[in-house]
Amino acid sequence: MMIDNGGREMADDTDQYDQIAASFDEVEAIIRFVRENLEWPSFEAALGQLEGLRVLDVGCGEGSFTRRIAQLGAKDVVGMDLSPGMIALAEQSEAANPLGVKYHVHDLGAMPKLAEFDVVTAVHVLHYADSRESMSAMAATMFANLVSGGRLVALSANADSSARSEAAAGFKTSRPENPREGDKFKVAVLTDPPTEIEVHHWPTSTIVGILEEAGFANVVWEQVKVANFVTDEDMDRAQRCAENPTSLIITALKA
Ligand SMILES: C[S@@+](CC[C@H](N)C(=O)[O-])C[C@H]1O[C@@H](n2cnc3c(N)ncnc32)[C@H](O)[C@@H]1O
Repeated sequence: MMIDNGGREMADDTDQYDQIAASFDEVEAIIRFVRENLEWPSFEAALGQLEGLRVLDVGCGEGSFTRRIAQLGAKDVVGMDLSPGMIALAEQSEAANPLGVKYHVHDLGAMPKLAEFDVVTAVHVLHYADSRESMSAMAATMFANLVSGGRLVALSANADSSARSEAAAGFKTSRPENPREGDKFKVAVLTDPPTEIEVHHWPTSTIVGILEEAGFANVVWEQVKVANFVTDEDMDRAQRCAENPTSLIITALKA
């Protein structure tokens, strides 16, 4: 943890994502296959109808999914991220092709109530929590930003992903043996040279339990799947990505 100039604790992922923001195109080129053929189609199906809904995308990075959420007809779309570098990229895309998305820099674990949202989305951000307390704080801020009846739709790292699916997706993870909740490990995106990202080990059952403790109901998860539009040429790689895949969809309700 770092301490900000107001004396508050902040997550310490700002630097690593500010560095990744500088060479984001190379990372994007590697992760595009699994994102386009498995993650986005599975996530979009879980989002369902967004027409006219207010959506907060937490850990939005450079805003690629945030922008697609706006293009699905959501209104008042807000993206937030810890990294000023990633938010700067998101704002550049918004300036180049305005969709009315607003972006803010915040630490998800300390985010205030920004507004009332019908849907909170969290794409590949929960596994940056470095302790049970920080995962609980993230769950609490997401819950606080939802209206009653609102939904959380998360795309989250699968703690049990197979080495074969990771290789097909373009990653290599270095998990400790017998990892415990919150243990830190590195994921290398196979750019040249590899781009290493520090993340934390969160079994899905732990995330589900923490979301329930925060007040969420109907917390369910499923693995991402191969989209039905995948071409014959891409099918072999897509099926390898889907064998105990690198990510899961988790949905939950604020009753
Ligand atoms: C793997 S990227 C995903 C970005 C985006 N959701 C996407 O899928 O394109 C993870 C993002 O989470 C952000 N992040 C990490 N810890 C965070 C925190 N405590 N609060 C807010 N954002 C955080 C990072 O800065 C980074 O942009």
